[in-house]
Amino acid sequence: MERRQRENVPAFRRQVLLLSLLSFSGWAASEQIQYSIPEEMPKGSIVGNLAKDLGLNAKELAKHNLHSVSVAKMKYFGISPENGNLYVNDRIDREEICGKNQLCFVNFEAVIENPLNIFHMTVTIQDVNDNTPQFQNENIKLEIIESTMTGTRFLLGKAEDPDIGVNSLQNYQLSPNQYFTLEVRESQDRNKYAELVLSKPLDREKEQTLHITLTALDGGEPRRTGTAQIWVNVTDANDNPPIFTQEVYKVSLRENIAVGTSVLQVVASDNDEGSYAEIKYHFSNIPLNAHQKFNLNPNNGMIAVTEPLDFEQTEEYTMTVAAKDGGGLETHCNIEIRIIDENDNSPEVTLVSLFSPILENSVPGTLIALINVNDKDTGDNGKVTCSLQNHMPFKILASSNNYYKLQTDSPLDREKHSEYNITITATDKGNPPMSTHKTVSVQISDINDNSPAFEKSSYIIYVPENNPSGASIFTIKALDPDVDQNSQITYSILHSNIEKLPISSYISINSETGTLYAQRSFDYEQFREFQLQVKAQDGGSPPLSSNVTVRVFIMDRNDNSPRILSPSQEAKGSALFEMVPRSAEAGYLVTKVVAVDADSGHNNEKSIQQP
Ligand SMILES: *[C@@H]1O[C@H](CO)[C@@H](O)[C@H](O)[C@H]1NC(C)=O
Ligand SMILES: *[C@@H]1O[C@H](CO)[C@@H](O)[C@H](O)[C@H]1NC(C)=O
Ligand SMILES: *[C@@H]1O[C@H](CO)[C@@H](O)[C@H](O)[C@H]1NC(C)=O
Repeated sequence: MERRQRENVPAFRRQVLLLSLLSFSGWAASEQIQYSIPEEMPKGSIVGNLAKDLGLNAKELAKHNLHSVSVAKMKYFGISPENGNLYVNDRIDREEICGKNQLCFVNFEAVIENPLNIFHMTVTIQDVNDNTPQFQNENIKLEIIESTMTGTRFLLGKAEDPDIGVNSLQNYQLSPNQYFTLEVRESQDRNKYAELVLSKPLDREKEQTLHITLTALDGGEPRRTGTAQIWVNVTDANDNPPIFTQEVYKVSLRENIAVGTSVLQVVASDNDEGSYAEIKYHFSNIPLNAHQKFNLNPNNGMIAVTEPLDFEQTEEYTMTVAAKDGGGLETHCNIEIRIIDENDNSPEVTLVSLFSPILENSVPGTLIALINVNDKDTGDNGKVTCSLQNHMPFKILASSNNYYKLQTDSPLDREKHSEYNITITATDKGNPPMSTHKTVSVQISDINDNSPAFEKSSYIIYVPENNPSGASIFTIKALDPDVDQNSQITYSILHSNIEKLPISSYISINSETGTLYAQRSFDYEQFREFQLQVKAQDGGSPPLSSNVTVRVFIMDRNDNSPRILSPSQEAKGSALFEMVPRSAEAGYLVTKVVAVDADSGHNNEKSIQQP
């Protein structure tokens, strides 16, 4: 093609047809002269020498007045009157003159005079590749969803090249790319158009926009090309599920964590865009107990505590959280929440059994109570030791497995302490430690371990003589610190130093009150003193007793008138009289005594008055 075209340019003069022009004489109305020129020759370019081709010499030219007559068409060409050259007078654009017609001529007539002759001129306009293929739309925008199947076609439109033949549009080419191939097709009007064929799946997450250049080529020499830019916008398909940053989220929480605290955030991301990347979180699998304690923010995946946590209730929670994107794709992750024990439980002290009252003579080591101690916390928080307050005759000993024994540690004495409030303190080893106090009341029961004790170590009682018989003369009191029967005292008289008569005829004692009663009226002048043993005995079993010595002195009263011994009066209890001389011996009897008085002391001071 190229070679032919190149030959055409210098050949156009030779193509002038002079077939019938040679006969110059006479009217030859159908004389045809043909030229062929390429389009777009510069103004003034010579198409051919018409004078010469018509066989006119230069001298004759003026005489013949060669000129053209087809006024309308003649704007393209001019004829030089001087030399008879046919030259280009105006721009000759083949496409403007002939459009898509394969053959393009400009016809006109030339006239010579003297003689008058008309020549038909035909100038063939040859196509020159002066037009570039041009796309109607030089920026082709395509939106292709990433899920599009390979093999799918996309119409790209066509390019126009007004040239003809090889100079017009011949082919399309695509810039190198990995996703698309080009298919050039021909429509019914034989125009070529391009289609894009997807040859490899798209992935918006890898490449969101593609830029390809589409080139339209003609076959001219030189070849002209036109381009269009193809902008492919790969749009999102929900082809990516949400992905959590971790498959399992673990967290450990102290059990006293404040309600409302956010403890964990799950995060999922989605490579899609728009609503396909909008993630909402929800619990997809959660046990009821965890549901009460934790709350999940559907928008940001934050998990917060909604109720107090209790290690002693639940040590671990597991749950599953789902992340769901706007296209319905869902992914799960697991959550493990461990609760860390805090020392939040005081030890619990339970009195399992209590032996109270206990006898005061219980030997040290006697079991009083069995106590169970329990702390719900774990580790050191749940390790408990027990102690008692100081100065107690008790001890607490660890027995098996959270059991403690409360025992006596030294002898007891009910008369000193009849009751103990024993405070057991159970303390755990937490930090800070927690304690529980439990008070056990233990009664000490009585043993008859005390004898009655008289208020005095001995008693001396003075009783004025002539006392009425049956009068109470004294009350003896003994005390017994024991209780009840053990302190109930019975008094009795053991014996006396009065030999002649039974003591009961002199004195008696109220066994309950210890009151002594004179059983007769005492007479100082008869006897002046005696003593007896009084015994106090308690009601214990066996009973305990003690005795005390009571000395009774009879006190003189002036109950005797002096008596004149001489002259002797009637005898009355002569024995009485006999006593006087015994105490008043030393020889008074013989000379001076004329009167006696049985009384003693002042009562015995006699004065003899002369009547
Ligand atoms: C691609 O399409 C999306 C959605 O229609 C649009 O938001 C974005 O601006 C487009 N990008 C380009 C480069 O055209
Ligand atoms: C023991 O406790 C009881 C009740 O609190 C109280 O009435 C009693 O007096 C206490 N006894 C002793 C010996 O502290
Ligand atoms: C009286 O008491 C004494 C010592 O206090 C004792 O030795 C004696 O046996 C007691 N007598 C009687 C009869 O109980």
